[in-house]
Amino acid sequence: MTENAKDSSATAAPAASGLRGVVIGASSVSDVVGDKGELIYQGYNIHELAKHSTFEEVAFLLWNKRLPNQAELAELKKELGASYALPQEIIELLGKVPRESDPIDVLRTAVSMLELYDPASKDISQAASFKTSIKLTAQFPTLVATAERLRRGLQPIEPLPEENIATNFLYLLKGEKPTEHDAKLFDVCLILHADHELNASTFTARVVAGTLANIYASVVAAIGALSGPLHGGANTNVMKTLLEIGELANVENFIKSALASKRKIMGFGHAVYRTEDPRATHLRRFSKEMGERGGNSKWYEMSRKVEEVMMREKGLYPNVDFYSASTYYMMGIPLDLYTPIFAVSRITGWTAHVLEQYADNKLIRPRAEYVGPRNVAYVPIDKR
Ligand code: COA
Repeated sequence: MTENAKDSSATAAPAASGLRGVVIGASSVSDVVGDKGELIYQGYNIHELAKHSTFEEVAFLLWNKRLPNQAELAELKKELGASYALPQEIIELLGKVPRESDPIDVLRTAVSMLELYDPASKDISQAASFKTSIKLTAQFPTLVATAERLRRGLQPIEPLPEENIATNFLYLLKGEKPTEHDAKLFDVCLILHADHELNASTFTARVVAGTLANIYASVVAAIGALSGPLHGGANTNVMKTLLEIGELANVENFIKSALASKRKIMGFGHAVYRTEDPRATHLRRFSKEMGERGGNSKWYEMSRKVEEVMMREKGLYPNVDFYSASTYYMMGIPLDLYTPIFAVSRITGWTAHVLEQYADNKLIRPRAEYVGPRNVAYVPIDKR
């Protein structure tokens, strides 16, 4: 055994491995088959769900491991609708944050505050956790949209309990009901982002839940992980890059010189997929559709060109964040809301994983490969 070797309970993994390919536990919530470009939620292929399902039905599926019948879905929608509204104290908090705050940080702060107004927050039984999962899923869209209205100096508006989450969110954001097309398209965007196995934020949620901390603590930590540019923060940066490029004619030179200077192009590459991210297939179509409907396909065409250059120069495929950026942009959604919108969907996956973690819990506590010195003699401070 070398000086830095671990005891027999530890297996070596290179310090910078980022845990790629390491299986840390069992889950039935979702699976990513990287070499085939497949994503399944509780056994259902994402393409099937995108085609036939709704976000509410997918939420039920993730939490209950099966699709609902009519009555169960109606009951879930009723419960969600009844929980859309926020406590007045939270609306007041949202009105007090500095206007220049990043909306994902405002969401994280507001969720932390929501816990303080939930008398059942410490109850992590399956029944109570299930209710909290529904409540958070209902309140995320209201939080994001209300914070946005207040930032723009507008009055918050009352959610519409009878509408689904997609319609309700777009209504709260813009003050008018979305077209059926936009509401349906956004609903599918929510389905596509709902879960993705042990991505960084979901892993974070499970680590926190594994200590038997409550759902709020797990979700707040997950939002923190999501906010980074290598994870959920990528979609906003994709649109910033497209705006920076400016014109279709600039794409080739821009991407080549960015790559030459070792700059990462956001929205490309993936830790697991070695082929097309199946979510990108749908989002590419949505970006095209939004361009056609709005009579301006510039952002879609630029995105296609970026995709072509990235494939040729680096062999990299677009991920979920690439085409969601231009899709949301053409829906008139502000750039810095793209990551909070990711959370509006992913709250279902995070909570499904937390429920699964609580149901068969083991504290998550890996080991590190110690690379520091040992047996260093202590020198008193006045002698250093
Ligand atoms: N743009 C340019 N080069 C990229 C790249 C990108 N988006 N993604 C990966 N690469 C390159 C790296 O520079 C590296 O090249 P090198 O071997 O010449 O140094 C190689 O591909 C491997 O990159 P690495 O970051 O180690 O791959 P990974 O599989 O561990 O990382 C991501 C996956 C997602 C972190 C990475 O692709 C990335 O940073 N993408 C941009 C951010 C993003 O879109 N995140 C959302 C993910 S859904």
